[in-house]
Amino acid sequence: MVLTSLSACSAARQEPAAADLQWAETSRPVDARLAERYERSCVACHARNGSGAPLAGFAPHWKPRMDKGVDQLLRHASDGFNAMPALGQCNDCSADDLRALTLFMARSGT
Ligand code: HEC
Repeated sequence: MVLTSLSACSAARQEPAAADLQWAETSRPVDARLAERYERSCVACHARNGSGAPLAGFAPHWKPRMDKGVDQLLRHASDGFNAMPALGQCNDCSADDLRALTLFMARSGT
């Protein structure tokens, strides 16, 4: 297991390990209202590896994005960005909701 993940870590391509996939599948925001929005909207793409979306909780997918500044990420979440749909298909998500959900997936808060 350890050896497998080490060898998969070469160059920029970093594949999530089983524990990363499990975190993405099972973790939810603590706040029930946010968790409901997360389940309804973000999970379909962000909890599934290989969907093209950065995997929830998986730092190698989120850190390079967070390094560009959370404001840019939130603008993209709100307006859409390539295959990322506007508002993440959460039409009743406020800007604060999107921020909290993004920080949850990037594991830097909430
Ligand atoms: C239909 C699939 C889909 C859904 C639903 C979805 N996303 Fe995404 N998301 C994507 C994809 C694909 C990307 C990567 C876009 C790219 O970098 O080209 C992405 C990227 C992002 C990014 C990073 C943007 C950047 O600038 O790097 C944020 C933040 C984000 N999503 C937040 C959310 C939130 C919050 C939700 C739920 C409210 C959500 N997404 C729902 C597909 C989805």
